[in-house]
Amino acid sequence: MTDKVLIFDTTLRDGEQSPGATMTHDEKLEIAEMLDEMGVDIIEAGFPIASEGDFAAVSEIAKRAQTSTICGLSRANFKDIDRCWEAVKHAKSPRIHTFIGTSPLHRAIPNLTMDEMAGRIHECVTHARNLTDNVQWSSMDATRTEWDFLKRTIDIAIKAGATTINIPDTVGYTEPVESADLIKRLIAEVENANTVTFSTHCHNDLGMATANSLAAVAGGARQIECTINGLGERAGNTALEEVVMAIKVRQDIMPYSTGVDTRKIMNISRRVSAVAGFPVQFNKAIVGKNAFAHESGIHQDGMLKNRETFEVMRPEDVGLSGTSLPLGKHSGRAALRAKLTELGFDLGDNELKDVFVRFKDLADRKKEVFDEDLIALMRVNEAAEDRIKLTTLKVVCGTHGPQTADMTLDIDGAPISVHATGDGPVDATFAAIKQAFDADARLQLYQVNAVTEGTDAQATVTVRLEEDGRIATGQSADTDTVVASAKAYINALNRLLVRREQTDVGYDEKSVSYKDAGE
Ligand code: KIV
Ligand code: ZN
Repeated sequence: MTDKVLIFDTTLRDGEQSPGATMTHDEKLEIAEMLDEMGVDIIEAGFPIASEGDFAAVSEIAKRAQTSTICGLSRANFKDIDRCWEAVKHAKSPRIHTFIGTSPLHRAIPNLTMDEMAGRIHECVTHARNLTDNVQWSSMDATRTEWDFLKRTIDIAIKAGATTINIPDTVGYTEPVESADLIKRLIAEVENANTVTFSTHCHNDLGMATANSLAAVAGGARQIECTINGLGERAGNTALEEVVMAIKVRQDIMPYSTGVDTRKIMNISRRVSAVAGFPVQFNKAIVGKNAFAHESGIHQDGMLKNRETFEVMRPEDVGLSGTSLPLGKHSGRAALRAKLTELGFDLGDNELKDVFVRFKDLADRKKEVFDEDLIALMRVNEAAEDRIKLTTLKVVCGTHGPQTADMTLDIDGAPISVHATGDGPVDATFAAIKQAFDADARLQLYQVNAVTEGTDAQATVTVRLEEDGRIATGQSADTDTVVASAKAYINALNRLLVRREQTDVGYDEKSVSYKDAGE
């Protein structure tokens, strides 16, 4: 029997923590359901003390999960741990994950001595273990922690009852040989190491997260922490699709199994990209648009003769269907439903009715509606709970300015009409939104991509806004680039308003110190 490597997905916690990747409550539930269905072993659903919204999402995900273990994050203090337990306790299989930064740099912030920190680890893991028998301990910044102290923290956590020991490479500092050695040495030298599961959690700052995770497995880790599309702070986390496919493809040297149904990878990748507002780079391994594209003559020739000449895995293995016929304005609801199901969107009747209207509208403007168009159509990120909605937009542009935008928005249920001028149609449109809704948001990114080829192609627009250090990204698609721009801006603004409600929690906040939070 092959050894199982547990897949711990933290898209909804570490991924969502990345600047601009805010997801709504419903989006989090949807992603969690997809993760559960695809066979992820553990879903880290959020950081319950961070906000009421995080707490509500973790609780609801815990109630709904069918097979995955549901985990919540908590700093090493009783208040966080209790709040985390309140949220995850509804799950069939709950887990508390608690952590503290153990490296010299991290110890300095709460100004704890090694002995004080050791005491806190003991108390907190014991406290968590009194609540549940599934407790994960993380020594944050493990790869920059002094060897003796790292060993000591893990020894204490195991003695206090932790069942999983996570070794985070918090700043993506390690490299594969070191990553394997670290886990191997810990397993060899820490007492009772064989009674727990060692886990690896890598960030991608030096582009080695996948390699470091797989090396850690070679060293004895049996849990990989990862995110869909490698979403995560800075350069991101280990990408789930990369480690899972690497293990599947290289069984000859990595004879492990994962419970993940790899055919569901593409759909969840697209969905996470859409809801987080993070486009996947074209040449991204496994899920990039070009991952299975063959351009050069030699490659195409080889592929026609034998696919294995230039492909180490089949597109079907990750859920990419072969070439398919586009839909058009004569396609009916049944054809649309079948196509959407194939692309991973299972819609209820009401939702389908709504999408069908948008599809017909698109098909009227565009002769052929390709898979990519439908995926973009499904990215129309308007949610019922959005405070700001676009009702109408009329823009005048051309060689002689100023360009103008006349817009009506629905803000908290009331119509607001504005007129604005700007340096170009997009500038005028954004000026109109700012006039209608007063927010101190700064535009950080404005990006336009064509979904398919041709002048009737839809444009996908990404807008990133920043306000007081909070960042939110919005996306939209339309055959009219200015309309797509307006909707993407509004989408980002709605997400920023959600972000405003989240409390900023520092990892080592003094006010929630161990003593304050204790009994
Ligand atoms: O990167 C990290 O160290 C983390 C911990 C909270 C596990 O995300
Ligand atoms: Zn992390």
